[in-house]
Amino acid sequence: MNTNRLSKKIEDILNKQITKEAEASQVYLSYGSWADSEGYGGIANFLFRHAQEERNHMMKVMQYIMERGGRPKISAIAAPSKDPKNLQDCFEKTFNHEVDNTTAIYGIVNLAHEEKDWATYNFAQWFVKEQIEEEKLIMDLLDKLKIAGGLKASNESLFILDKALGKAKDSVPLAREASSDNPE
Ligand SMILES: [Fe+2]
Ligand SMILES: [Fe+2]
Repeated sequence: MNTNRLSKKIEDILNKQITKEAEASQVYLSYGSWADSEGYGGIANFLFRHAQEERNHMMKVMQYIMERGGRPKISAIAAPSKDPKNLQDCFEKTFNHEVDNTTAIYGIVNLAHEEKDWATYNFAQWFVKEQIEEEKLIMDLLDKLKIAGGLKASNESLFILDKALGKAKDSVPLAREASSDNPE
């Protein structure tokens, strides 16, 4: 008896997402290692913590496939791209990676909708929400760097930025979650 509740196409796209989240984790690891070598220990710490978050996303997809009677497939992951040229480049590339991942999530939502697989559609909504948060997190990094002076930032302002990011929260508050009781 076949108890797999996922279609072949859905299982395939979810398996691709496992690889994508693992690749995202590698990107954060590699940028973190670059940041540390440039002397930005706080930013490295921020990126390393985020690498862990991407791994958790990977596990979340694996668990969903298993819950539905499917079989997660672990594939080779691509090497992360070259070191960024500077912090601006680092944050911009990170942002592009997140947008690319959002597009992949939308692909899952589209397919689930097409197949009327409402369980997967519902599962993917968590990631839709998560990606809003992730994109905002990196937008905030770009904003902070801009205020610090962008490419012309002084060593002193970069020092302060690095320290602040080392202690920054891993997630960002979103406007739609604010309430009068909790006006973040
Ligand atoms: Fe992710
Ligand atoms: Fe992400």
